Amino acid sequence: MAKNLVRVLLTGAAGQVGYALAPMIARGLMLGPDQPVILHMHDIEPAAEALNGVKMELIDSALPLLKGVVATTDIVEACKGVNIATMVGGFPRKEGMERKDVMAKNVSIYKAQASALEQHAAENCKVLVVANPANTNALIFKEFAPSIPAKNVTCLTRLDHNRALGQVAERLGVHVSNVKNVIIWGNHSSTQYPDANHATVTTSEGEKLVRELIADDNWFNTEFIATVQQRGAAIIKARKQSSALSAASAACDHIRDWVLGTPKETWVSMGVYSDGSYGIQPGIMYSFPVTCQNGEWSIVQGLKIDDFSREKMKATEKELIEEKELAYSCLNLSQT
Ligand code: LMR
Repeated sequence: MAKNLVRVLLTGAAGQVGYALAPMIARGLMLGPDQPVILHMHDIEPAAEALNGVKMELIDSALPLLKGVVATTDIVEACKGVNIATMVGGFPRKEGMERKDVMAKNVSIYKAQASALEQHAAENCKVLVVANPANTNALIFKEFAPSIPAKNVTCLTRLDHNRALGQVAERLGVHVSNVKNVIIWGNHSSTQYPDANHATVTTSEGEKLVRELIADDNWFNTEFIATVQQRGAAIIKARKQSSALSAASAACDHIRDWVLGTPKETWVSMGVYSDGSYGIQPGIMYSFPVTCQNGEWSIVQGLKIDDFSREKMKATEKELIEEKELAYSCLNLSQT
């Protein structure tokens, strides 16, 4: 039996990430190869013509799963009846800027879009915030869409997770699909803590801990962490633009695993509303290891955390608490 149509909102659809992501969604990389979709593409007025160009290209691609395209600069029209919201639109970070620099611009955008989505989306809409500062944009989004359950609002750290898998695979000289269970803790920023303490690699002799195989604590505690933390900036330096295809690919991975479930004995990293797990302050959007089943994520519990990790997890938590304060002050709100 044919599956019911799913409506997917993509904001910032005429931008670099949007341009990479739209065809991935329309080809089934986000929701599966048998899931028909209607793509709701939104961008701001100055991008209207480019947005229409993306729509034309999608039509020209004759994609079997793509059952319709809405391309609009009206956020209310864009949000109508959507089941999945991929929030990519935002003021982009340029070379030399920290994510905090774009805070004021983006939190006001997210506040407005949250209200529109809350009023017009389908019930149980799942939200992924990609635009930076992703964790804090997602938090503001959640605050201004109070009828959307907190568990339905997430932010993207899968990009960092995939980067960490890639670094370990390169170091081991194995294919990335053989490596799993790295963790990104905290903020999608340079304070994030990429943690490979529990990561494993599949070998001909079974699963091995990557830390034991590589046996180079210095690499894990310095170069590995710094490379993953700084990868976004390195891409901006090389391309003179933010990462786009890897961000789009990670957004597909995030939603696909959330909706269709994580593979057995595998966790992924997602920025979610903290419930206090691992002693992290509740009420911030923090990246944790999660598994997903039946469309719900749950934080992996009981992992052993050493002092080195604890310190790094706290540093990125501190940055998120400060970002939250800054976001509230940008919106002239008092924290509750
Ligand atoms: C990335 O991590 O590549 C993006 O979030 C862009 C950025 O600002 O780092």
